[in-house]
Amino acid sequence: MKLLSSIKPDNMRNLVTHFPQLLSTLQIESSILNTAREFHKEGVNGICFLGMGGSSIAGNYVRALLSKEAKIPISVTRDYLLPTHVDNKWVVIAISYSGNTEETLSALSMANEIGSRIILMTSGGKMAQKSKHQIVHLPEGLQPRAALPLIFSAVLPVVESLAGLKITNFQYLEEVLINKSNTWNEWLAPPKEIAEAFIGKTPLFIGARHLAPVAYRAKCQINENSKALAFHSELPEANHNEIESFVKTNGCSVLPVFLRSGLESTKINRRFDVTYDLYLEMGLSPINLLASGDTRLEEMLVLTHFLDMISVELAELCSIDPVSVEKIKELKHRLSR
Ligand code: F6R
Repeated sequence: MKLLSSIKPDNMRNLVTHFPQLLSTLQIESSILNTAREFHKEGVNGICFLGMGGSSIAGNYVRALLSKEAKIPISVTRDYLLPTHVDNKWVVIAISYSGNTEETLSALSMANEIGSRIILMTSGGKMAQKSKHQIVHLPEGLQPRAALPLIFSAVLPVVESLAGLKITNFQYLEEVLINKSNTWNEWLAPPKEIAEAFIGKTPLFIGARHLAPVAYRAKCQINENSKALAFHSELPEANHNEIESFVKTNGCSVLPVFLRSGLESTKINRRFDVTYDLYLEMGLSPINLLASGDTRLEEMLVLTHFLDMISVELAELCSIDPVSVEKIKELKHRLSR
């Protein structure tokens, strides 16, 4: 499978700009969806994602998105070990963009040993050689985190098939995201303006429900693209611990960024509003970013696209190369010795 010729793998701004097109690029093979439907007919006790970093986040998106519809547990493992509750009635979806991530390969071999049903997603490496399993082949040459739209557009239909749900159409989502990104400045803010507010601060992204993984993704994108410290948390849980952490450091450099949904329940909405007011009173300057979209899926993707662009803007404002991840590379190199 080839990427559009306008996609420049060594240019993160270009990749983030193409986020909508990457969502509708991958044509998942019908044999893979048929296999997933077969597994559904045979009975699936649960779905366990294996992956690390940029390859793992799609699992969190799918879990949050399908939490209401899927009647089976969906879990995400970022470790060498497969959880012991995963058995041969579970489906394991192992994702490694490079195909060589040791934690993912280790948990995958445990899944293999216990006879779990397995679906792989990779662009190559050792994982691509595991020919006895169904493999979704991802195009090579991207940074794994930039491949999120490709991975997510493959993973969601697979999980929908495994759970016996209607399959999402990604073509229309491409249009939605393009339209929304053309008008970011009108309905949200220019990404550069938000990035400027991050300079000298540590962003703390706070989401709830379907926007909780978006907060986590934003934290990771600031880490990897902007090479800056960032945190994430989730409501309502953060109201029971994190809220206490700002008292002594009144006016500290943390910048809370509330990821708000137009589809919030009354209870969550109220919690966000009260938390915002309390943080203001503590001397912080929280920002509200309101997602836009008719569905939870649209909100998740639209806001992810916007936050990804903020991470690129921040990198550029700080004269940092958003593509290279030298420390991750060096660590993997040392571990492989
Ligand atoms: C780099 C990135 C990393 C990798 C992680 C796992 O762009 O996003 O977080 O995703 O180191 O590697 P892969 O994805 O190759 O399994």
